[in-house]
Amino acid sequence: METRGNFGSKLGIILATAGSAVGLGNIWRFPYMTGQNGGAAFILIYLVCIILLGLPGMLSEFIIGRHSASNAARAYTNLGKHKAWGALGLMGIITSMIILGFYSVVAGWCLQYLYASIIGGVHGDPEYVKNYFQTFASDPIRPVLWALGFILLTHMVVVRGVRNGIEKASKILMPLLFILLVIIVIASCSLPGAIKGVEFLLKPDFSKVDENVLLEALGQAFFSLSMGTACLCTYASYFNRQTNLLKSATQIVTIDTLIAVLAGLMIFPAAFSVGVQPDSGPSLIFITLPNVFQQAFGNMPVVSYIISVLFYGLLVLAALTSTISMHEIGTAFIYEEGKVSRAKGAWVETIVCGIIAVFCSLSQGAVEGLGFFGKDFLSNCDNLTAQLLMPLSSFITCLFLGWYVPKKIVRDEFTNWNTVSGKLFPIFLFTIRFICPICIFLIFLHQFGII
Ligand code: PFF
Repeated sequence: METRGNFGSKLGIILATAGSAVGLGNIWRFPYMTGQNGGAAFILIYLVCIILLGLPGMLSEFIIGRHSASNAARAYTNLGKHKAWGALGLMGIITSMIILGFYSVVAGWCLQYLYASIIGGVHGDPEYVKNYFQTFASDPIRPVLWALGFILLTHMVVVRGVRNGIEKASKILMPLLFILLVIIVIASCSLPGAIKGVEFLLKPDFSKVDENVLLEALGQAFFSLSMGTACLCTYASYFNRQTNLLKSATQIVTIDTLIAVLAGLMIFPAAFSVGVQPDSGPSLIFITLPNVFQQAFGNMPVVSYIISVLFYGLLVLAALTSTISMHEIGTAFIYEEGKVSRAKGAWVETIVCGIIAVFCSLSQGAVEGLGFFGKDFLSNCDNLTAQLLMPLSSFITCLFLGWYVPKKIVRDEFTNWNTVSGKLFPIFLFTIRFICPICIFLIFLHQFGII
């Protein structure tokens, strides 16, 4: 077995972990959820979830990962001093595999749209753009190939290891992503009538907030911060002992939220400027936006071309930094526990997730009835992970760390001999002992119609 890698610098830690957090969740999922759930009202609820549950949850996973410096399953076993706790880590690893399966399908769609934008764009009337997406997504071959291609691209980074693969890629991809995003935000906000889109993001409309919004916001917070998947735990296992966990988590949560809001500022002003309601759901970036770009920048074909290429390029970059982290979770587990090389571990992960991706892609229309509970397989995977497995894993993790693991271990990891962190430790402990589990539990009760 190879020796364990680690991140080489503080910047590497922040960029790689923020790279995991910043992804399609910010640029695809967050805007369509905001669009469907009342704009600023949803964002306010989302922010509460992030601060109250997201930050402490992220810190908990960091503590477990850094303390054990091993894959997630072993990290939970080590801290819990019992193999049964390893099941919790394993649940996170399986969750990440399911996510990588469906995520790479959507990432594959982004690759196709990037390609289509480069060779001339998805042009035509709204009906054509809609048919284009539906015909493409329900094709039995092309989207499957793009999804598998995306997993292979991810594989190529992960096999190079933590420092030479993940850290190096994040240091290039993350700044590039930010620059692309800012360019499109500026273009979108300078359109006539864009201000209505900015208002939508800032003025809460509570009339659209129903009982599902809370659950949606919670699911989005977990998804966006890559929580409950063993991802944060695995990345933290590559942190060094000097890393201040509180400071790092705060920086990562801030970057992630900033990028999500910027993504909103990229999409809503452009949509409102051409009178399009941004509440179309998951197809927002594949059906609504090509129309929006076409109408908004239609009289400037070159600008319209550049914006489309930049936008889909941005999505591909964001997706890649996240798929790298998902892939690493399973790869680390397989090669450490299976006592095989990193390359072999990565191949097993690629094949398993590739199979899930094929099912997810075919469920989009190529094969009838591929799904359950009245939803297609891809939506099932998304709902199962974001609304059940991720919050459940975080719920148990908080109880595990708050009540079961010796307090001294938790305090030492959290404070790291830093006085500010030391003062905040009682608040952290109280939050993971009471606030996080109670909130997640109440939301579950609500979800199952008990309250
Ligand atoms: N946080 C990523 C996003 O917002 O797109 C998604 C994600 C990455 C989920 C890594 C889970 C994970 F382990």
